[in-house]
Amino acid sequence: RSRRLKIREECRVFHMSDTQIKEVMSRLHNELVRGLGKNTHSKASVKCWLTYIQDLPNGKERGKFLALDLGGTNFRVLIINLGDNHFDMQSKIYAVPNHIMTGTGVALFDHIAECLANFMKEHEVYDERLALGFTFSFPLKQTGLTKGILQRWTKGFSCSGVVNEDVVQALKDAISRRGDLSVSVMGILNDATGTLMSCVHKNPNCRVGIILGTGSNACYVEKTENCELFEENNGKLQMLINTEWGAFGDDGSLDFIRTEFDREVDTHSINRGKQIFEKMIAGMYLGEIVRLALEKLTRMDLLFDGRGSDLLFKRNSFYTKYVSEIESDLPGEFTSCRDVLEELGLAHATEADMAAVRYVCECVSRRAAHLVSAGIATLLNKMNDPVVTVGIDGSVYRFHPHFHTLMCEKIEYLVRPGITFDLMLSEDGSGRGAALVAAVACHQSQQQG
Ligand code: BG6
Ligand code: GLC
Repeated sequence: RSRRLKIREECRVFHMSDTQIKEVMSRLHNELVRGLGKNTHSKASVKCWLTYIQDLPNGKERGKFLALDLGGTNFRVLIINLGDNHFDMQSKIYAVPNHIMTGTGVALFDHIAECLANFMKEHEVYDERLALGFTFSFPLKQTGLTKGILQRWTKGFSCSGVVNEDVVQALKDAISRRGDLSVSVMGILNDATGTLMSCVHKNPNCRVGIILGTGSNACYVEKTENCELFEENNGKLQMLINTEWGAFGDDGSLDFIRTEFDREVDTHSINRGKQIFEKMIAGMYLGEIVRLALEKLTRMDLLFDGRGSDLLFKRNSFYTKYVSEIESDLPGEFTSCRDVLEELGLAHATEADMAAVRYVCECVSRRAAHLVSAGIATLLNKMNDPVVTVGIDGSVYRFHPHFHTLMCEKIEYLVRPGITFDLMLSEDGSGRGAALVAAVACHQSQQQG
């Protein structure tokens, strides 16, 4: 029993009081304002990039489009047919091997172009001239819908020669190196933006797009009057902002809630000191936070009779999907938990150990869910619209059994009275959003002559 209490005591660092959560919200709000401000943008850690998507889809978009989706768990190529009362979408997942993720930019874009060519052959559109939307889920400074300068890699990518370069140009160059495809890249967008576009097509109240997957990010509709940074507003009253909130905390503003485990995750990452908020909430890191806590408890002789395993002590061997699986067990049952622990070489775990492992998972995922809720509530309060649908995608939100409920409860508590919201899972990923962006852009360029 005292062992159980000691474990709870150790996990207290993951608990955030409502006062702390509100402090996170107020700091994030200030960062968003700084990101949008002309004189503060360069110093802000939350950059609030303009997406250059001027028009949200109105549901009347038609035609056949290609899309690329790079930056989540899977790299996908898609073909989408937007019809009168339906849309038809086919896609294929292609591997991006580790040596390409960390190799040269040229090799990455050649690989993308090759997958695109193979896909077009398989779908018998190899000779067609098609418009393409590119979902590229990394921070971009955009200066137009088809110009995006990569600010930094995140989530395990580190290809050389791409930071500070225009990614659309890099893709076009790779396509012309091949010389066999006639594809026009009509727009580049982030996955959070794609999610928003995709959801708004179905539900016009959707004004926020969230990704809670390998990484985390938010895109939302902001009033132009609040976007001091962006002068050329073309008379539009609203703008679509890609917050890149994963970088919140890079200036130390989350240090008051970070734990030794968060610092250790950061120290051993390939982007040290960067994406601090993301490292507390996203799928690339949650499993490792749990593993570090379990490692500590084992070394303190509070778990597994003090006997760990090679895998338990090995970095990144506790996948975030394990957290979802373990928390999916019914109360009092440990079916998935036992399987996971066996996989990790911990077959000697007792029921008390399994209950403790589940408890650690719950603490880490509850903290993540509350932090994301704080982020969403900050946006909802800032927008101050009475009814908003939030479109969400990503493996953590999709597969974790309790995230949705935890988030609904917490956001409800944190939003200003009078604001109602709902969280809507984006069914078809952001590929459809990319096709819609391409469709809207084609429509605009036709109108312009
Ligand atoms: C997919 C979207 O559904 O979710 C991608 O199509 C996005 O654009 C991804 O990046 C995010 O989730 P994850 O878990 O794959 O990183
Ligand atoms: C990372 C990327 C961001 C993306 C998010 C979710 O934070 O920097 O662009 O939207 O991951 O994939």
